[in-house]
Amino acid sequence: MSERKPIVAGNWKMHNNTVETRNLIREIVKKVKNSGEQCEIIVAPPFTSTAHAVEEAKGSIIQISAQDLFWEDKGAFTGEISGPMLKEIGCSHVVIGHSERRQYFCETDETVNKKIGASIRNRLIPIFCLGETLTEREAGATFNVLKRQLAQGLNAIEIQNPVNFVIAYEPVWAIGTGKTASPEQAQEAHAFLRKELANLRGESFAVQTRILYGGSVKPDNARELMGCPDIDGGLIGGASLKAVDFVGIIEQGTGI
Ligand code: PGA
Repeated sequence: MSERKPIVAGNWKMHNNTVETRNLIREIVKKVKNSGEQCEIIVAPPFTSTAHAVEEAKGSIIQISAQDLFWEDKGAFTGEISGPMLKEIGCSHVVIGHSERRQYFCETDETVNKKIGASIRNRLIPIFCLGETLTEREAGATFNVLKRQLAQGLNAIEIQNPVNFVIAYEPVWAIGTGKTASPEQAQEAHAFLRKELANLRGESFAVQTRILYGGSVKPDNARELMGCPDIDGGLIGGASLKAVDFVGIIEQGTGI
């Protein structure tokens, strides 16, 4: 682990109603020993539970993220949720460009770019997800895909402070499949992303940016993954739905 403060974030996806949300947050708060100095902890519940999560997490070290946002701040966009709305209820972060959004909801590098712009404009910290599919990996296209996703996602967006910007590398073939990237595969991708980020934004920006790994992270593989020099924490799906596993990942991954 580097001198960058690690982040462990739970992406709950479409799980947990308001009651389940409050219960799970209460359980995590009770179990977690971390005082917030060594590691940031973030939870991303579904939209209807978000305000409840903010309320339940108040006074604890847990920060609340949304799972998506729309790129306009208001208007005739039925079904959408804007940055100011998320900000108003107390969200600090927003997940953008998750592979499930790209796969099932037609998100592209261009829409991801607009959403990152909206998050920065509204002072929400984006957790910018990118990663290659199995077909792309097998075709030897991983680095080209990552390079394109990173450059297009950040296109023409000004980010003042890299502390308020997070990348999550999530190889699509490792999400929800039980297949984890090996620490070597993950470290290689993270080092590549950091080098590309340095080309785009300068060395100092790249060195300070947290790059999380996501894809079948569990308590028993968190230590070796998060122990890699360019891996600064995890974005956890399935294993974030049980307090014991999520807190296990925090403890194993960050050594607290
Ligand atoms: P997983 O999901 O941990 O269940 O593989 C990760 C993610 O989708 O962020």
